[in-house]
Amino acid sequence: PEYSILLLGGDGIGPEVTAEAAAVLDQLSASPNARATFKFVPRAFGGCSIDEHGVSVTEETLEQGKKCDAILMGAVGGPKWDGKRRGFEGPEGATLRLREVTDVYANIRPTEYFPQGKSPLREELVRGTKYIVLRENCGGAFYGPKVEEPDYASDLWSYKRSEIERIARMAATLALSPAVPVKKVISCDKANVLASSRIWRRIVEETITKEFPDVELVHQLADSATTLMMTKPSMFNGVIVADNTFGDILSDLAAVIPGTLGVLPSGCLADLPAPAWTPGLKPVKGFFEPVHGSAPDIAGQGIANPIGAILSAALMLRYSFGLFEEAKAIEDAVNLTLESGLRTKDMGGSSSTKELGSAIRENLKKL
Ligand code: NAI
Ligand code: MG
Repeated sequence: PEYSILLLGGDGIGPEVTAEAAAVLDQLSASPNARATFKFVPRAFGGCSIDEHGVSVTEETLEQGKKCDAILMGAVGGPKWDGKRRGFEGPEGATLRLREVTDVYANIRPTEYFPQGKSPLREELVRGTKYIVLRENCGGAFYGPKVEEPDYASDLWSYKRSEIERIARMAATLALSPAVPVKKVISCDKANVLASSRIWRRIVEETITKEFPDVELVHQLADSATTLMMTKPSMFNGVIVADNTFGDILSDLAAVIPGTLGVLPSGCLADLPAPAWTPGLKPVKGFFEPVHGSAPDIAGQGIANPIGAILSAALMLRYSFGLFEEAKAIEDAVNLTLESGLRTKDMGGSSSTKELGSAIRENLKKL
């Protein structure tokens, strides 16, 4: 089949890194034994859309988001648009609106130790660390009704059973996948103080023990989890699952592990990941983007690390399209390229974005 991908380069280094990710997908499409091909629908998004259309995302682009099989985004924002517009009016409003209309409730952020990175953690501590942070992305304090007065403000932090069940199922499904080394879910909450955490803990427990007996489940208080993530990182090998607020914090903390933001991918899914590809497989809607931002300090120089964007494309193949082997091949090609000594500046090398991208494609051909 041909899958359609809404391609949103965005601002700053976004277009530079997504171009490399798209080139990797084009190469896969062109391969004689391709099981699927990819068609891109490129659109302006974020700051560049404000410049072009007066809004950070047009209704037509939102429609394309619903229609396309998956979305690949670079990053949005930059000093040019700072201050003037905030929230839904600013560049980041584009991401919030597109997430909302596509109902992608599960934010997947894998992290792992790269020997070539510059991890601030000691090598012997962090070696072998590989886990996924799964953040509930459509509920909790971020979306509850807000009161904002000069001398009083509140955010309603609430969860209902169905929201917790679906994210718990997602966590256990990911824990059973070969993407993590251990069949384990670590659920993080503050059940000692928050009612919304007590229902979280109870329903995660019920859902996983009943439906996924092969998955080990551990509950961890979110505050002490931060200390343990830095002192015993490999203890989290598996899937960390948390609500919107704690997941936001824990996923950024997990970004310390590789030592550069430039290599980390992420994705948001609207449903359980696709099973292994079979003819006629219906894709699962997903929204994929590197973890890093638009890096205005290095934009236009051609030195951005494209690995985060390329690995985001690999996540798309695995979770939206069930193309497990192709996703693994991209990840292997990235590792081979790093092992050969090529690096961008953020990893201590001097390769350009394009050099790294084409080396990854060359290695992919050999796999
Ligand atoms: P950032 O991630 O853009 O940059 C932080 C630092 O990491 C910078 O020194 C940058 O040069 C470096 N860096 C980031 N990605 C890199 C890559 N691929 N290769 C090499 N170096 C890389 O975060 P920052 O500076 O806080 O934000 C810059 C702009 O990006 C802001 O306007 C912010 O709102 C936006 N942003 C957008 C995001 C998105 O669209 N998903 C996420 C985070 C920030
Ligand atoms: Mg964050």
